[in-house]
Amino acid sequence: MALLLLSLPQCVSSNKVFPNNSETVYLGSQFVDEALQRAMELTDAAYTRTSERVKMSLSEGALRPNDLLAQFKQTEPSTRAHIQAAELLDNTVELIREMVYTHTMAQPNHSELLSEGDVEKLLQVTGCSSELKSMHCDTDCLSERYRSITGECNNRQHPSWGAANIPYSRWLEPEYEDTAGMPRGWDPEYTYSSFSLPPVRLVSQEVLYTHNDNISLDSTLSHLLVEWGQWIDHDLALTPQSPSTAAFKTGVDCTRTCSRDTPCFPIQIPSSDPRTGLQSCMPFFRSAPSCGRGTLASGHREQLNAITSYVDASMVYGSSDDVASALRNHSCPLGSLALNPQHSDHGLAYMPFLSRTTQARLDPCGPRRGGNFSFSEPQDWSLRHDNATSCFQAGDSRANEHLGMIALHTVFLREHNRLVEELHVLNPHWSPDTLYQEARKIMGAIHQILTWEHYLPRVMGEKAISDLMPPYEGYNPDVDPSVVNVFAAAAFRFAHVTIQPIVARLGPGYSLDSLHPPLPLHHSLFASWRVVQEGGVDPVLRGLLLSPAKLQVPGQMMVEELTERLFQAQGGMPLDLAALNLQRGRDHGLPGYSSWREFCGLSVPNTTMELADILGNLAMAQKFLALYGTPRNIDVWVGAISEPALPGGRVGPLLSCLLVKQFRALRDGDRFWWEREGVFTPAQRRRLKSASLSRIICDNSHIMHVPIDPFSRTESADNMLPCSHTRIPRLDLSPWKEPDTDPRCGVIPRIQDGSSLLCDSMILYQCHSGFKLQGSSSVTCDPGSQQWRPAPPTCHGTHNHTSHVHLVPSSLPIRQILLWYVGARGKYKIHIIQQCSHFIENIYTKYSIENIKYALYKIDRSLEHCLMLHYAMISYVKYCKRKLYTKEQRESCYFLKIFPYF
Ligand code: HEM
Repeated sequence: MALLLLSLPQCVSSNKVFPNNSETVYLGSQFVDEALQRAMELTDAAYTRTSERVKMSLSEGALRPNDLLAQFKQTEPSTRAHIQAAELLDNTVELIREMVYTHTMAQPNHSELLSEGDVEKLLQVTGCSSELKSMHCDTDCLSERYRSITGECNNRQHPSWGAANIPYSRWLEPEYEDTAGMPRGWDPEYTYSSFSLPPVRLVSQEVLYTHNDNISLDSTLSHLLVEWGQWIDHDLALTPQSPSTAAFKTGVDCTRTCSRDTPCFPIQIPSSDPRTGLQSCMPFFRSAPSCGRGTLASGHREQLNAITSYVDASMVYGSSDDVASALRNHSCPLGSLALNPQHSDHGLAYMPFLSRTTQARLDPCGPRRGGNFSFSEPQDWSLRHDNATSCFQAGDSRANEHLGMIALHTVFLREHNRLVEELHVLNPHWSPDTLYQEARKIMGAIHQILTWEHYLPRVMGEKAISDLMPPYEGYNPDVDPSVVNVFAAAAFRFAHVTIQPIVARLGPGYSLDSLHPPLPLHHSLFASWRVVQEGGVDPVLRGLLLSPAKLQVPGQMMVEELTERLFQAQGGMPLDLAALNLQRGRDHGLPGYSSWREFCGLSVPNTTMELADILGNLAMAQKFLALYGTPRNIDVWVGAISEPALPGGRVGPLLSCLLVKQFRALRDGDRFWWEREGVFTPAQRRRLKSASLSRIICDNSHIMHVPIDPFSRTESADNMLPCSHTRIPRLDLSPWKEPDTDPRCGVIPRIQDGSSLLCDSMILYQCHSGFKLQGSSSVTCDPGSQQWRPAPPTCHGTHNHTSHVHLVPSSLPIRQILLWYVGARGKYKIHIIQQCSHFIENIYTKYSIENIKYALYKIDRSLEHCLMLHYAMISYVKYCKRKLYTKEQRESCYFLKIFPYF
């Protein structure tokens, strides 16, 4: 009917069609079913082609740079489900537009294309509506106390703000090449302010390329500061790309084409490029679209942040409940994170390995065959573990990206486990979940403090921080803390130009170690195997502490390690990080440089001289104008990083504005911000304030000397202080000890075989697994009667074995406990928790203490026993680490030698 009416000009008002009865007819409505059907076929076919391509690559034993990039951005199942729904929706709407155009030659705007009913139907059928379902937020004591893993319900009025798997927010409307979301520069001939956009690879070559040797070193900042930036980025933003590597419409393989067909948005290699001849395009995949009623209403594509926006240490814990649970060690009830059962770093823990899935033989993080890689191990090192890769498993998929990232992940994994152990000693009545959540909460606070107090002032300069970031004034539920598109796709990528081309690795005493020498950066990418095989994380941490950051100066922008050798694997064209950043900004429709200056209230350059004035560099301004024609078109990332730094900082005015605005929102819009009244007690806040990354390194590595300020450049190892120095303060957790008595009701009742937690004025009870709670799960102090009301519950065993369990008396010294253990063989029937026994077996197997191993091997162990042993060991080690003077004392510490794990 719409078609018919369209042929009657008097009935047509814009592109909506108004039949005589004045009922609106939307041009796209009649194509909805057909487009949905077709889009399903195309989307499914593209996914099938992708998995066939992956299988073929694997059978060829090839892992190309873009495969590594995909691995880098891998997302967990709930994000993948969201993306698949969003891609189907996007492809359907695209087809509807095409069908309308083919039939009517009309290009209706969004409000004219589909009715509300059509939109509802599309959301239902594609699966987007279940992605958009409204969230229910609990208001109990625990949800006041701990943030959710997904970030949901942080803001109770807007439960999705800052949560994982929501679209990035925007400060400026996107400027795509069409109304729907076609990237800028999709059509190379298309003009903006009368100029077409230059190919991104040309900008990379002309403006960014820097020879590895042609760099200046930062005189005041360490490389650990650079690394911290990336670490925090991985806490804030992860933009997934389309899981399809085949074009939806044509099925063409994106890795082998120069044609633009979503999701393929290949980067053209200009004829002047040294890479010409190898391949005429570098593969690039568009960021995945997101489901969104808003997206459908506004009509343009939005990209997805797959992780929580909050600074909450999500790179350690994950951003989905499934990932968080998979990362935990559920066997030992300490609330600890799981460790690598195969390898240890001279007695300290590593993250577990990721298991192999489809990558039957290939190991993205194992030694490379061929290329420039040196082999300290047989080439098939990684194949030794049948079911595991050499990639570490962490809360963020980018953990293995390079050695520095692995080092920080490892240190913070250990820190969590250190914290739960200390908290357990203070509060033995806490459940594993409470220990986990309290440690996670402390970790979140530590990340906020290190970022706001130590990192940002050095990046922005003290003055910019004090001008733009006023002191904290409390939680503001009207502030949306979600990461903003321009922050992820441009602004916070500023530090890519401060990365050193060499990964310094240093031995004990911060000396060069001939066994593990410094590496070119590209040899450190996805080279997790090197951590295990080449000295653990200490050499990398020492390198980060002692080496300076690269200084960003005009003419020395991004090192060739990143523009020419990114993810150089066994073959295929290496990627170029500068080109990726620029292309990503265009893919996300980020407006150009001038719009952002205007947004920040800064002057807008119109001429070469005005630009030269802002950049403080005429040659640079001329280069930009030669490439872009007008300052308006300069891609915001490259424009922003080209501005000279503000005094005392490392970024210019535009970046200062964008970064501070984002970090302020992340602070003020976080209900769990560490300084917010009630989140921590005043005593806890005082202790947290002294958090220090140097201390964390001391506590979680073998490094014995550290700088007072690890983000400042340390000229020589002689300037480091021993970890025992008072200026490397320990985090005193004593304010986390719960009181044992209440001023009115007296002793706080604890329960046998269960745990308790004081939450506000309530005591919450939980029984250990295998026990059932009888009575009320919470009690409060009744001020009138000064009694706990109702009566505390009791826990009753649900297994009949429990009565046979004999607990080790905790007063026994460790030696006796061990002897008790050995002697216990056959005497008692004790029940096992699998992993805990693995943990013990690992130690025994590794150190070949045959007699003890044999004895323990034969016993069915209970969790309680494992733990007893564990804690006794900890106190034993503490005891033994004191100076050993007498022969007797030395003898009593003999066991320390055989349990170096502690
Ligand atoms: C050796 C060091 C680093 C390497 C190899 C690296 C590599 C990459 C790569 C390959 C991407 C994805 C590019 C794309 O497809 O769009 C990326 C994104 C990003 N990088 Fe880096 N990076 C490094 C250090 C840093 C640092 C120090 C920072 C910040 C202080 C940073 C901030 C970011 C941000 C914000 C993104 C976007 C994240 C997203 O939206 O998913 N990176 N980086």
